[in-house]
Amino acid sequence: MAGFVLDEFGENETIRRQIARGRGQEEPYEQAAFEQANTISLDVTNMFDGPEPTSMHRKDLEQIIPGALEANTMLERGEGDIRDHDIPMTGWLNLPEEITAGHLKEIASATRELSGEIDAFVSLGIGGSYLGIEATFRALTHSFFNQLSREQRGGAPEIYFLGQNMDPDFYRDTFDMLEGKRVAINVISKSGTTTETAIAFRILQQALESRLGKEARRFILVTTDREKGALKKVAREKGYRTFVIPDNVGGRFSVLTDVGLVGLAMANIDLGEFTAGFRRMRRLTRTNDFWRNPSLVHAALRYAAWLKGKKIEVVATNATSLYPVARWMEQLFPESEGHKGQGLWVSPSLYSEKLHANGQMVQQGERNIIETFLLLREHDNRLPIPRQREDLDGLNFLPDNGMDMNDINRKVVEGPAYAHYQGGVPNMTFEIPRRNSYNLGQFYYLMERSVAVSGFLLGHNPFVQPGVESYKTAMFALIGKPGFEDKAKRMKEKLQKMERTVIHA
Ligand code: PA5
Repeated sequence: MAGFVLDEFGENETIRRQIARGRGQEEPYEQAAFEQANTISLDVTNMFDGPEPTSMHRKDLEQIIPGALEANTMLERGEGDIRDHDIPMTGWLNLPEEITAGHLKEIASATRELSGEIDAFVSLGIGGSYLGIEATFRALTHSFFNQLSREQRGGAPEIYFLGQNMDPDFYRDTFDMLEGKRVAINVISKSGTTTETAIAFRILQQALESRLGKEARRFILVTTDREKGALKKVAREKGYRTFVIPDNVGGRFSVLTDVGLVGLAMANIDLGEFTAGFRRMRRLTRTNDFWRNPSLVHAALRYAAWLKGKKIEVVATNATSLYPVARWMEQLFPESEGHKGQGLWVSPSLYSEKLHANGQMVQQGERNIIETFLLLREHDNRLPIPRQREDLDGLNFLPDNGMDMNDINRKVVEGPAYAHYQGGVPNMTFEIPRRNSYNLGQFYYLMERSVAVSGFLLGHNPFVQPGVESYKTAMFALIGKPGFEDKAKRMKEKLQKMERTVIHA
């Protein structure tokens, strides 16, 4: 049988851009025209006056605006409940202004040096030490990046992620992909003690050292606290190159620190452009002019919806590339808002796929849902729909009306936005002009700022995550970590007292 030929689709724009980035070609992100073309919009029309009894009206929002403005002012002044162990955790707020071009260059040159010597790069981490890097990487690169040639990847090595789960089969499968390749790793953990990351690190460190001996240290990067933690100790002892997670930036706010920057530089993502996006949104979100500040509008609307009894926020996108960004939001919001019985559960969804799954529930289930769309305006590629002489499936009207797949993929958001609103699901749409690091930077900062304001509106500290710490210590106790013997004993006693109900099929 003859092989598949898809010549008529031409060059893949995502690959073209990867190659351009690999050659150091920059987007003109300092120019006003670029800024204008990359303006994210937020349409909130469908948040108001829906048919459900718990619908929100503009007057509900009016009552929340003063609190949102106050939260914004407090944030800027470093006031309020923002501390973790006495450290004000708002270092991310001014980071876009504080980060220096010299620092970005340093990271880019360190990764460039290493990149030439390796075939694959593995980023190890979980939660905030993982999601932002993967989201940005996937948003900007080819869906099958590691299967492309090195040239098509713009000279970047293959990129893998480990440490985000403890599934031995997933690890084993990843090792098959790494077999025989020259590998470097970056272990990322602020605390330096997260079990999943530490185990992933131990395995890969051992594999590198047994192969390369002392030389292995050149291929091991450590991103952790400046001074303390187990990882810092290991790095000191072994002489690994270290990158720093600032004290005053929590994991889920850290994508613009070395946590994100090292891995992104390895994938040739332009760090200057990424930072410029953050910087622009910083400028836009300082204002107390409510309707000109998207982070305030977003935070206030979500809070108003929560007060009306909404419990779930479906974050749906029509772009496979942006789905990991929705997953990043799944961490940022619940980990920051999920305190004292409060907060919206964030459910990331890729449409159309999920419309044929939980779409039924969204349309007609319990009316406790809001929906936030991440609509990608311009995909990298345009895909025409062929016209057929016989038109047996009756689809010729699409090409006849000048519609291609891109036009239809927009309706994948516009259709549900209309239908779900009519069905009693308030929704809002962020329109993201195109896939570039500038827009991601803008979007991340907007969301970070929104969740901070949301924490203030809810009346709790959004920068701590004692709930996550609870699972971490329960796990330490269960795996017999020294120092957690008492906890293990108490857990065992409690578990023994519980009447177990298990059925065996
Ligand atoms: O946002 C957070 O603080 C958390 O999600 C952490 O990033 C996550 O728990 C990983 O922690 P660490 O970087 O200490 O390994």
